Amino acid sequence: MQREGPATAIHRADYAPPAYWIDTVDLAFDLDPAKTRVLNRMRLRRNTDVAAQPLRLDGEELNLARVLVNGQGTSFRIDGEQLVLENLPEGPDAFDLEIFTTCCPAKNTKLMGLFVSQDTFFTQCEAEGFRRITYFLDRPDVMASYTVTLRADRAQYPVLLSNGNLVEEGSLADGRHFARWVDPFKKPCYLFALVAGKLVAREQRIRARSGKEHLLQVFVRRGDLDKTEHAMNSLVHSIAWDEARFGLPLDLERFMIVATSDFNMGAMENKGLNIFNTKYVLASPATATDVDFANIESVVGHEYFHNWTGDRVTCRDWFQLSLKEGLTVFRDQEFSQDLCADPSARAVKRIEDVRVLRTAQFPEDAGPMAHPVRPDSYIEISNFYTVTIYEKGAEVVRMMQTLVGRDGFAKGMTLYFERHDGQAVTCDDFAQAIADANPQSELARLLPQFKRWYSQAGTPRVKAEGRYDADARTYTLTLSQSCPPTPGQPDKQPVVIPVQLGLLAHDGRALPLQLAHWTQPEAGSRLFVLTEASETFQFVNVDAAPVPSLLRGFSAPVILDIDYADAELLALLAHDSDPFNRWEAGQRLSLRRAINSIAGSQGETPATGTFDAEILDAAYIEAMRSVLRHPALDAAFKELVLTLPSEGYIAEQLDVVDPQRVHAVREAMRAQLATALQADWAWAWEQHQDNGAYTPDPLSSGRRALAGLALSQLCLAARASGDTVWPGKAYQRFKDAGNMTDRANALQALVGSGHALAQPALERFHALFKDEALVLDKWFSLQAGAPDRGGDILPTVKKLMAHPDFSLKNPNRARSVIFSFCSANPGAFHRADGAGYAFWAEQVKALDALNPQVAARLARALDRWSKLAEPYRQQARDAIARVAAASTLSKDTREVVDRALAG
Ligand code: TRP
Ligand code: ZN
Repeated sequence: MQREGPATAIHRADYAPPAYWIDTVDLAFDLDPAKTRVLNRMRLRRNTDVAAQPLRLDGEELNLARVLVNGQGTSFRIDGEQLVLENLPEGPDAFDLEIFTTCCPAKNTKLMGLFVSQDTFFTQCEAEGFRRITYFLDRPDVMASYTVTLRADRAQYPVLLSNGNLVEEGSLADGRHFARWVDPFKKPCYLFALVAGKLVAREQRIRARSGKEHLLQVFVRRGDLDKTEHAMNSLVHSIAWDEARFGLPLDLERFMIVATSDFNMGAMENKGLNIFNTKYVLASPATATDVDFANIESVVGHEYFHNWTGDRVTCRDWFQLSLKEGLTVFRDQEFSQDLCADPSARAVKRIEDVRVLRTAQFPEDAGPMAHPVRPDSYIEISNFYTVTIYEKGAEVVRMMQTLVGRDGFAKGMTLYFERHDGQAVTCDDFAQAIADANPQSELARLLPQFKRWYSQAGTPRVKAEGRYDADARTYTLTLSQSCPPTPGQPDKQPVVIPVQLGLLAHDGRALPLQLAHWTQPEAGSRLFVLTEASETFQFVNVDAAPVPSLLRGFSAPVILDIDYADAELLALLAHDSDPFNRWEAGQRLSLRRAINSIAGSQGETPATGTFDAEILDAAYIEAMRSVLRHPALDAAFKELVLTLPSEGYIAEQLDVVDPQRVHAVREAMRAQLATALQADWAWAWEQHQDNGAYTPDPLSSGRRALAGLALSQLCLAARASGDTVWPGKAYQRFKDAGNMTDRANALQALVGSGHALAQPALERFHALFKDEALVLDKWFSLQAGAPDRGGDILPTVKKLMAHPDFSLKNPNRARSVIFSFCSANPGAFHRADGAGYAFWAEQVKALDALNPQVAARLARALDRWSKLAEPYRQQARDAIARVAAASTLSKDTREVVDRALAG
């Protein structure tokens, strides 16, 4: 039954320390899918710093059988979802509390707490899942020592895992067995985990710098063992990196990763026992793409890095979530960059990360769910595992590093752990440690103002205006900042914005930088820190009209408003020494053409929704051609430059969005680029074939990415000309590809160009991979995400949902169809007849009854409804209102739709 939680908001300002501490927890599980028995024996004591009050323990969907205090029966009451104990021993002495409950893992479709996936038990406790296992003080500032005993049928559940060290195991009567685990570190309950089932492990022993030996294990189902090598390598690299870069060693004898195919998110950093979505563990060249390999590396890194940033030092309360998530995303981004041997590959990774920020976080920050990196209130914490907490939070940490330098930041981390190891702390504590370790830094000087990045929502805009005086040889650059209102925050104050800046001459030369009061010019690039609403910088001895290259490397998460002439953007694209801004110039050129064409009255054939005007001019096409043919640029970078801004990103630049027009214009641009550069694409395809053994390194994956883009462009050009050669080549490549990247790219090229060969290719693909769940997800997702032609995708999606391989209960599968359509295919989803929205409303409601977290994420697909043009706007609003009117709705989904309607 769906229980309706009270929709009361929790406020950061209301934080109070717990009334009790839990020092030790001894948990004993008798695992049974239908009825698992949980005996929880705790040692508690009053928190004498706060006034005496009853003990209120959280619990959800539990059957309570027994409560004993110091071995004796006691009175208790149930108040909502809390167990309240009022007659506890007085005084500061510790006492024993024993609670016996049962729960039903087999019926747990929310995948929070203890659940069963493919006959194996797993747990997910972050943020508030532990209360679905036993009654507890389910809050991160209560840290305890855990001993866990697991008992289960040996034949069905031969592997029994929990956090820490295995101290005892053995046989029991009736074919059962047991294992006892002791975690040597205190932890909050959200880091508790257990796993029980038929699993096998890839194992590796490593020796740390200290000489200590560690056992690493990656547990999967028997048939998947051959897909664990890359995850294991990623773990080994992560451990070495954290030691080398931050001096943070692995603190456990044994470190385990376990994969499950039913998981709400990517992975979870439970102490010593990380649980992963199979998507971020399993990879073989035949089944996983280059992107999958890269994601596995960064997610394995991310969860491992939490071992210090999250587990050793954790969050005081859930408002501080970005303390661990923003910092750990920053760390995994740095890790992936440091693994790149080549500077260009580092830049590619940076561009990819910024692209995620701009296509997902900027819209969030401009919509009804906008919230600060450290939120002030929430109704359901699960809704705040957002791109703002994660990605914007990482940018805030990155700015700190920029302001104190790389070595200064490492010193700050050291001080953070000296001060706070074993504690549950706040974002303030982190920023203070970084600043205190660098007392002479700009960060230390500006700390209170810098911390507005934690408290203010919304994406700041920086407006840049430059004026060159040829006679005086001066260049005057004025930078002004502003930030739009967000829900609950009408007025904003200036933030600290690090601006990495260089000046180029129109011929591409780097100009020396000299401010009026400097005695000497400086070569290259320099950091300026904008703190006021508006500041003017005057450069002297400037011997040519400069083109400013601002925010190099994307030095701050802001929107830069600047009126570049096309010639200036072309100069930056051709010559900027900063690869990020080089790419950015290309994006601006593309965006400008898209926006002009969307705003114009030209080109649309209303009946078909297609767009037949020429949008791209010769100068643009030539610039793109020279990037594509460039002898020195690497393939991964070229692929990024030649990929047009997404429909979502284009839409964000508009005040009123007609999604069909955005789609038609972008498709027309793609088609024009395909035709105009046909010979160059053919050249690129031929030049970027690799026939050696597959490796997922940045250089070869870049080559495959560019070849893949080329092939899809060639198939698109063929669609216009009626040529059959390239679709034929794509089909051939699809059949003979030596790895999943090339195969999926070839299939994508056929599906994306709508060629008749797409159908047999899809059938063949399904037959080849019918037993590979993660590959089937790709098969579903490719079809649900294909470019819409005359409204054909929604019927396809409905057909896919009737396919025997579809299941709404498996989050990966639901995402591969429903999210690929609603959240990743705007041209198909936003239909003039409103049928896309009606479908969305049905699916949100259906999912909500099974899994509120997944439903609430889907609910966010209409976040930006108020920007839509009619008739989309009204229809979208009606659909949201229909969901909001449902009689039973989880508080997860309720919070999202209520905010959407209010904002
Ligand atoms: N802490 C996890 C991470 O980012 C996130 C996570 C995994 C999560 N599973 C979850 C958050 C379930 C909420 C609910 O590494
Ligand atoms: Zn995380």
